[in-house]
Amino acid sequence: MRKTVLHLIILSAIVALSSCSGGEKGYKIGVSQCSGGRWREKVNSEMLAAQHLYDHPVSISIASSGDDTQLQIRQIDSLANSGIDLLVVAPNDGRAVSAAIDRVMARGIPVICFDRKAASGNYTAFIGGNNFEAGNTVGYHVVDVMRREAQGRKFFVLEVTGSKSSSPAIERHKGFAEAMSGHTDIEYVWRDGKWSSDEAFKIVSDQIRSGKVPDIVFCHNDGMATGAYKAVVETKAEGKVKILGIDGMPGEGLEYVKLGHQIATYIYPTHGEEIVRLALSILNKQAYPLETTLEGILVVPENVESISATADELMEQTQNLVTVQDKLEEYFGLYNLQSKISLCAGCAILLLAVGMLMIWRAVKQMRKANRRIRAMHDEQTAFYTNARHMLRTPLTLIAGPVKKIQDANVLKGEWSEMMDIVGRNVAQLETVVSSVLEFKSGMAQPSVDDHTAEAALGQKSLKESVQEGRLVQMKQDDSEELSDVLIVDDNADMRRYLRTLLADKFYVLEAADGQSGLKLAHECVPDIIVSDVMMPVMDGLQFCQQLKEDSITSHIPVILLTARSTESQQVEGYEHGADAYITKPFNAQLLIARIYNLLKSRQQLRHLADGKKEETPMQLSTQDKLFADTLKKVFQQHLSNPNLKMDELGDELGMSRVQLYRKVKALTGTSPVELLREMRLQRGRTLINTTTKSIAEIAYEVGFHTPSYFSNCFKKQYGIYPTELRSE
Ligand code: FRU
Repeated sequence: MRKTVLHLIILSAIVALSSCSGGEKGYKIGVSQCSGGRWREKVNSEMLAAQHLYDHPVSISIASSGDDTQLQIRQIDSLANSGIDLLVVAPNDGRAVSAAIDRVMARGIPVICFDRKAASGNYTAFIGGNNFEAGNTVGYHVVDVMRREAQGRKFFVLEVTGSKSSSPAIERHKGFAEAMSGHTDIEYVWRDGKWSSDEAFKIVSDQIRSGKVPDIVFCHNDGMATGAYKAVVETKAEGKVKILGIDGMPGEGLEYVKLGHQIATYIYPTHGEEIVRLALSILNKQAYPLETTLEGILVVPENVESISATADELMEQTQNLVTVQDKLEEYFGLYNLQSKISLCAGCAILLLAVGMLMIWRAVKQMRKANRRIRAMHDEQTAFYTNARHMLRTPLTLIAGPVKKIQDANVLKGEWSEMMDIVGRNVAQLETVVSSVLEFKSGMAQPSVDDHTAEAALGQKSLKESVQEGRLVQMKQDDSEELSDVLIVDDNADMRRYLRTLLADKFYVLEAADGQSGLKLAHECVPDIIVSDVMMPVMDGLQFCQQLKEDSITSHIPVILLTARSTESQQVEGYEHGADAYITKPFNAQLLIARIYNLLKSRQQLRHLADGKKEETPMQLSTQDKLFADTLKKVFQQHLSNPNLKMDELGDELGMSRVQLYRKVKALTGTSPVELLREMRLQRGRTLINTTTKSIAEIAYEVGFHTPSYFSNCFKKQYGIYPTELRSE
């Protein structure tokens, strides 16, 4: 939810910023002027002044080609490329510039021809003065003037035209020629002055110098009229030649009329604001006229003063307007910049506010979390204080009496030893409890083993001599009453405790790690092994696995006794061949019961001698199966040898006599000697039943020294004498 709000704020800020940065730019209008001069400057000023005159603002950019057609073509192309919305063009050469205009039209950019037309007629609209009308009006005025001044005589009229490739020159000439036609008293000629003052000067000078001085010189614009006037002055023909022009610009044509240099001019209308208005109609897709004709007016000495005054005023106003427009542009720019800055500032403030809100919320949450942590910490402290008390009280109550009993020296032998174990381990427990409860978790936990290692060393030599004694006894004596239990644990107190638990039921052997346990097991072949898992040198898992891989020890059940209590740890134990897994702290009764249980289930090859091993309750490991088969084969091979020694048998099986004895006893419950005897008797019984051999012969064949000993043993085994069996 909070995220969505933030996204909305950022989005609106972006939208606001982008809309602001766009501003109201308006249309871009490109203007291509064929030349410069007063008249065109006036048009330009009027257009610039009209940029903000209408509902929709426009921005106008002007290019002027100074009567150079090729330059104008290039300027048109580059205006079109600059991204204008509309082109206003006065083509210098109606024909030559048409192709460039066609290109602009082809791009979908509307084109307004003004003042001059494109010869192709391919443009959107035209606006300009009526040039035929202009030439015609001037022509009729000439006729009037001549009639008034030179009645009855023929007079000579010279027309100096604009460039004949431009439409105004063509039309002005048409209008003038029309006015001149049909008058027999008028001699009329025309020359192409190419809109050039110099050209006009040359034409008029040449004409005057030719001796045929014209009465009237009509130039297509006031610029050429000045050239003509100059020629008249230079040829000293003043007063003889009357000059007329077109344009009627203040400071130019109007001035010349006032000064008497010209007898008339014709105001060729500019109206730049009308051009802009037409452009907007086109761009705004409103109805617009295809051709707009602007009105002109003839200026003669009679009306020049009033017209000139108005024109001056208009000119000044236009100039003022242009200044206003410039200022407006400047203000708009400034306003745009300011609004952008204010909007940016607004957005920044908004974002800042959101940021602060988020920080405030985060701080609030952090405080809440801190409070929770503090409460938890207080709870923990209370718990630990409580736990320390609860644990230390009973510990003290154990440690105290134990100390007292030890000091009283009333316990003897094994009992005193047990009390020492209790004393040492209570002290150990006190240290551990303190460390744990005082948050010393980062420190190495005091190891129970560290404290007992020294004591273990002290005990080691004693234990070893006891074990050696036992080994000697085992080597000497095949008869056995107690089973041997090997305890493998690195904690001496644990070994001592286990010994006190088991000593009256089993013969106890001890080892402090897996490696020495393995050595001892291999040598003594105990009946069962109780081993810790986490031990130095070789851990219990490794130890167990190696026991099971050794054919001499593979049959020995292994109980892993450990604090590693998770299920996966137990699975790991079984995977390494353990037979049982008892977790610490353990119940002594359970351990003893488990030992008995395993010992019982191990006596499974009782019937090895008579080959009924299928009856065995437990599955044998592959190692043990292999051993049983080999043993049986070796026994059978030597069955008839009465002097067979167990040492020899052991050698053949790769075992010592003791190892053989222990292994066979464990697997079958009988000694190898007894097993061999059973096999001999079994074979004897088969021979009695299946052959006609005498009992004596059979007795020797199955390896008895005397037939009588065979008979006695047979009776003992089967409850019947061999002779009785034969006679049945
Ligand atoms: C200016 C001008 C004017 C004339 C008009 C005709 O370039 O020569 O003097 O009236 O163009 O297009």
